[in-house]
Amino acid sequence: MIRGHGGNIHELARELGCGPGDIIDMSSNVNPLGPPEGLVDHLRERLDAITSLPQVDAAGIIQSFAAYHGLPEDRILAGNGTTQFIYALPLALQSRRALILGPTYADYGDACAMHEVPAHFLIADETRDFAPDLEAAARKAAEADIVFICNPNNPTGAFIPADDLAGLCRSRPDALFIIDESYLPFVDDGESHTLANRDLPNAIVLNSMSKIFRVPGLRIGFLTGPPPIIDRIGRYALPWSVNALAQAAVAFLMENPDAQAEFIRGTRKTLAAERREFESSLSGMPSIRPFPSRTSFILLRLSGELTAEGVCGGLARRRILIRDCSNFKGLSDRHIRISLKTGGTNRVVLEALLDIVRKGLRDDPDGGKL
Ligand SMILES: Cc1ncc(COP(=O)(O)O)c(C=O)c1O
Repeated sequence: MIRGHGGNIHELARELGCGPGDIIDMSSNVNPLGPPEGLVDHLRERLDAITSLPQVDAAGIIQSFAAYHGLPEDRILAGNGTTQFIYALPLALQSRRALILGPTYADYGDACAMHEVPAHFLIADETRDFAPDLEAAARKAAEADIVFICNPNNPTGAFIPADDLAGLCRSRPDALFIIDESYLPFVDDGESHTLANRDLPNAIVLNSMSKIFRVPGLRIGFLTGPPPIIDRIGRYALPWSVNALAQAAVAFLMENPDAQAEFIRGTRKTLAAERREFESSLSGMPSIRPFPSRTSFILLRLSGELTAEGVCGGLARRRILIRDCSNFKGLSDRHIRISLKTGGTNRVVLEALLDIVRKGLRDDPDGGKL
């Protein structure tokens, strides 16, 4: 079982003796404004769909996704979340050596480990707000055949403009670049920063529906790339990977592009305001430093007597779940990640954080452990 993920709300609920719904979940990076209006009702009316097999290769939703993004259908695969692709890629691409730009989402490394592909990390410098060093990446990519890059990056929030990323891909035509754009829809003008429509012969783009539309339970992800590579990866796709309700959801979302564009615009605007307020409230707390983010989550560096375990434990006792980032390669027991919510929830969490900072961890006899 892969264990690189973060906070488990069900485990915490059991430990606290409450229901998962009683916990404020700031550890999961899903859009707090989702799912888009009408989606759940649409699915409720189509529950009968589970009594038949879905389309085996999800061709219908590939068509909808292609039309929505203005892409040719032969450049697209649909899967059971982007996770399906992340774990298939090292094998399908017959990689012998991977490069991962970190600190980043653990599944890229776990996928390489699953297929016994050696993975090397290029860890960005914290003093440069974890901005990736693209010149160093180009040098290191010479030794790899696949390169994983998450843009914007989870958990640091670092963002690479599309022109810079395309320049990196062009500088190393022998390597295949896997660009995970799961959080790009949260970025202002994100559409102009996708590599999916740049016709690069050595770039594959991952696009998750889980985060922006808040449907992680449906498991829907897309992969875009050059047709010969799509053919190769397609050989590793399982039949019926995208279930019937997930296919119904994509049809609803992609066939109402104006409504989704409006939903995404609203998300960006709301979260930008929440982020500004959250960051400015932290400016009075020298022991908590936020890293710049253009997406729905913020990485924070703790100092003084604050540790990730202590702060996460203190918040957990107040029924707030955040992400302890100490198990990310390249981060430490001083890093935490908070995913923003709306409607006053961020304020509640800030108050709780302030309380912990003010009291230090002194009121925690066990040093912050639950
Ligand atoms: C960067 C990144 N990529 C991919 C995923 C997996 O998303 P899904 O399989 O739901 O598309 C996650 C989930 O947390 C993620 O953070």
